[in-house]
Amino acid sequence: MRVLSGTQPSASHLHIGNYFGALRQFIALQDQHEALYFIADYHSMNSVRDASERRRYTLAVALDYLACGLDPKRAILFRQSDVPEVCELAWLLSTVTPMGLLERAHAYKDKLAKNESVDHGLFAYPVLMAADILLYRADLVPVGQDQKQHIEMTRDMAARFNHVYGEEVLKIPEPYILDDTAVVPGTDGRKMSKSYQNFIAMFAPAGEVKRAVMGIVTDSTPVEAPKDVKTPLFQLWALFASPAEREETFERAKRGGLGYGELKKDLLARLLAHFEPMRQRREALAKDPDQVEDVLASGAGRAREIAAPVLAAARDAAGLGGAKPPRRR
Ligand code: TRP
Repeated sequence: MRVLSGTQPSASHLHIGNYFGALRQFIALQDQHEALYFIADYHSMNSVRDASERRRYTLAVALDYLACGLDPKRAILFRQSDVPEVCELAWLLSTVTPMGLLERAHAYKDKLAKNESVDHGLFAYPVLMAADILLYRADLVPVGQDQKQHIEMTRDMAARFNHVYGEEVLKIPEPYILDDTAVVPGTDGRKMSKSYQNFIAMFAPAGEVKRAVMGIVTDSTPVEAPKDVKTPLFQLWALFASPAEREETFERAKRGGLGYGELKKDLLARLLAHFEPMRQRREALAKDPDQVEDVLASGAGRAREIAAPVLAAARDAAGLGGAKPPRRR
């Protein structure tokens, strides 16, 4: 099976919500499947408007993937814009995509509801995302629940294109919904997200990580009183504990006598220790950006080898370019 997923470069560090919710699971898939992961720099143009920032964020995503264990000998890691053919396929798809389909997209509807102005790029976001997936004939697309609609739209666009220009030109992908027990609460209790500013960035400077951990919301229950363990501090702490430790600590919390401050300190220590080997790998790689660039360049080469015949077949099916001589068998 071929799995494919993309990550937008929109911050200088991924956070532990990205890690437990996606990255860790993506990296595990490289053991069983042919895996393609790309940095969606074209998509980031809808929100990041600064060129040097985009480059910096793109490198940061590459570093995060490599630090967390993506093995470039197995998985293909590449930058979306290194295979600009995806834009051509997006055009082909856009000609068979009803406006009504795009008008139903959550991201677009949310913007409209907030009365924000919408650029065509955001409106067409699902078309480019469909092209990402279809260009590489992905079988499985691992995504969180929030991206499921995009995969359904991708399937719809592929079916329409095939219906118009020939069955089986494009491969209809399946969503692979990631383990959502790994949805990580943010420091304010909402889902951890860059846009809520409630994240803990595992590779940020230690002082910043500490500030985020100490800022996790808690109530004013005194130390001696029983605690509710279904709260963000306990849920975050549990990510770094074994089942036995979890049971013991949760018992203690329910009995009373466990203070929030103590638990935060323990969480910080566990979190830093957990990511320490990855942090070291990331720091070493960050000193050698040429090496990262080599990984991305070779990833793009391998990605293009997969993409070229797919785009050629779609162009040919649609009657673009000169007629191909009849295929010799
Ligand atoms: N839309 C995805 C996100 O914001 C990123 C993405 C772009 C993607 N193209 C993709 C994910 C193709 C999976 C497949 O998370």
